[in-house]
Amino acid sequence: MNKTSESPIGIFDSGIGGLTVANAIREVMPHEHIVYFGDTAHLPYGDKSEAAIQAYSVKIANVLLEKGCKVIVIACHSASSASYELLKEYVHQEAHVLNVIDPMIDYVGQHLAGSTVGVIGTKRTIQSDIYSKKIKAQQKGISLRSLATPLLAPMIEEGFFDNQISREIIAQYLSDPQLGDLDALILACTHYPLIKKEIAEYYHGKTQILDSSMVAAESLRNYLAAQGFLNKECTPTSHFYVSDYTESFEASTRLFFGENVKLESHRLWN
Ligand code: DGL
Repeated sequence: MNKTSESPIGIFDSGIGGLTVANAIREVMPHEHIVYFGDTAHLPYGDKSEAAIQAYSVKIANVLLEKGCKVIVIACHSASSASYELLKEYVHQEAHVLNVIDPMIDYVGQHLAGSTVGVIGTKRTIQSDIYSKKIKAQQKGISLRSLATPLLAPMIEEGFFDNQISREIIAQYLSDPQLGDLDALILACTHYPLIKKEIAEYYHGKTQILDSSMVAAESLRNYLAAQGFLNKECTPTSHFYVSDYTESFEASTRLFFGENVKLESHRLWN
């Protein structure tokens, strides 16, 4: 299928948390058609093996290509760390693939040379060591400290944020000596924009909080503009597919997207 500027942007995640990235994309590029795929049948990806996430990602890429997407955005950090290189090869010339890690690495390299930067995310993202490898390769004198914070995503999904319990759990993680004396902290998980304010409060404004969803959306806009693929005029349409539909997932979409969205069921395996 020939891609044009009017072709949709494909976005995928392990579930509905990636709607934070879809939301940032909608904010930065309000005329783009969006096809979102949340792999709710297999979440959480944060606890899965690299091989399992790669298998799911290939299946999802096929769905997004069938829908004629001009670009595939891996909104999930766990999937970005596990399957970006594979998907780039797999999708090849059919669509450009973007992840949510590289735009942040570029941002940090440009703005935070010589500083101490922390990163928090799922076990899969942190164990992959991808941030530290990529930051080291830049040779900008950045010292990276990483910590897996696996309780945060389910906590947010259950609606626990901006309350006493969430503040205590956040403080417990952020007080880990591994994250001492940071100039900046990267929020390397789809869910964390929802607790950005609480994290900023914990640091009393002394540590810059870096939101990957916004940085990724801006990088996507720059890429599409450079390719002449930006959709500047359309009234946008959106489709939100999930591999396993439940009412509770649909109810949670408001948390991550700012409004309720209608989820459509699309199985990955029959
Ligand atoms: N979307 C995942 C990520 O950004 C968090 C939720 C999960 O573990 O699936 O890493």
